[in-house]
Amino acid sequence: MAPSRPAATARPPAFDGCFCPCPRGLEPALAAELAAIGGHDVRPLPGGVRFRGSLETAYRINLHSRIASRVLLQVASGRYRTEEDLYRLAHGLPWEAWFHNRQTLRVDTTAIRSPLASLAFATLRIKDAIVDRMRAKTGARPSVDTANPDVRVQLFLQAGDAILYLDLSGEPLFKRGWRADAGSKGEAPLKENLAAGLLALSGWNPREPLLDLFCGAGTIVIEAAQIACARPPGLARRFGIENLAFHQPALWQRVCEQAQAAMDVAMQRIAAGDPVRIGAGDIDAEAAAMTRANLARAGIPADLVRVAVQDAAEAMPPWPEPGLIVSNPPYNERVAIDVATWRGIGATLRNRFGGWRAFLLSSDRRLPGQLGLRERRKTPVFNGQIECRLFEFEMRDRTG
Ligand SMILES: C[S@@+](CC[C@H](N)C(=O)[O-])C[C@H]1O[C@@H](n2cnc3c(N)ncnc32)[C@H](O)[C@@H]1O
Repeated sequence: MAPSRPAATARPPAFDGCFCPCPRGLEPALAAELAAIGGHDVRPLPGGVRFRGSLETAYRINLHSRIASRVLLQVASGRYRTEEDLYRLAHGLPWEAWFHNRQTLRVDTTAIRSPLASLAFATLRIKDAIVDRMRAKTGARPSVDTANPDVRVQLFLQAGDAILYLDLSGEPLFKRGWRADAGSKGEAPLKENLAAGLLALSGWNPREPLLDLFCGAGTIVIEAAQIACARPPGLARRFGIENLAFHQPALWQRVCEQAQAAMDVAMQRIAAGDPVRIGAGDIDAEAAAMTRANLARAGIPADLVRVAVQDAAEAMPPWPEPGLIVSNPPYNERVAIDVATWRGIGATLRNRFGGWRAFLLSSDRRLPGQLGLRERRKTPVFNGQIECRLFEFEMRDRTG
């Protein structure tokens, strides 16, 4: 039998159960972002946010979300006890309507309290079910490509419940497309969606001055500068949804054109003198150079962000109005800062940055003591597997 292509007009599954995973600690910030982008019934859960939406919502989230790691569309859910229950769940789905047997496939599994002995075997059985179904319906099967698949499927397992998702993002959304080679990474860079999440937790708005005193490769100020320019994080990349049969190029193009128009307006305002006050500093000249190069790669006009080679202990506010410092100083043993330097940085913040608020991400609970500052708040946030706190310090304004 000749392989049949899924109809180009294939209807998408209902977008009643969508899920965006995110770094732990950012769920409320992601829920607010998704509601602003157009998600309905947004519900933060541990590790992500559930919501309802539409194909258009999915396009908008792929393009605009700074905090989500990916957009997942639920296509089935059911009870399970064994891998064979999972096989049946997957085999009953019309995969042949969603993608072509010549496209490549990857299946991933995440689990919380699953009784199964091997998640790898569960993954294999889902893959078997999809390819068996495709072969039965179309006469040929898709092959597996774990490195660069056209289509990704996610299995999520809890104690007795399984959910199957089509991944509408493909590469994770924190990959914005500008951090391509090893030379742009630097020392312990933050993931882009964590950097954006820190900005969201700080409450920074683009009219306020912003400084990162430990900028490394520049991830935080790049996110901030893109926000100031209304440049969508997904502008320079492709998405998994573009490989699925229910992709609607005209709708996607309209979403992109609206984003482009908003960006043009923001850039005109900036050109007309609307101030963008974003600064970055690092003690390491190579890091500062990397930040400059990465800003350019991320589409930020030259000179929009001030970048300096500077010891944080020597920093001065670059603008008369107070603003926010958002940074992740070194906190692992390899690139640790010594006690005297911390004390100097604390004194600099206290004495020179009156009226500013500083948000510092660290896994080291001793940070406030080392700085000689008392935190106003500390919010648990995970940097990968590392449990951190985003410490907020408020520097008293001594001018009044
Ligand atoms: C964890 S990295 C920051 C990574 C950055 N957020 C990113 O995403 O690329 C910490 C940075 O602090 C810098 N640093 C260390 N001591 C410093 C100091 N006293 N003043 C300024 N920067 C310092 C290091 O050179 C390093 O680039």
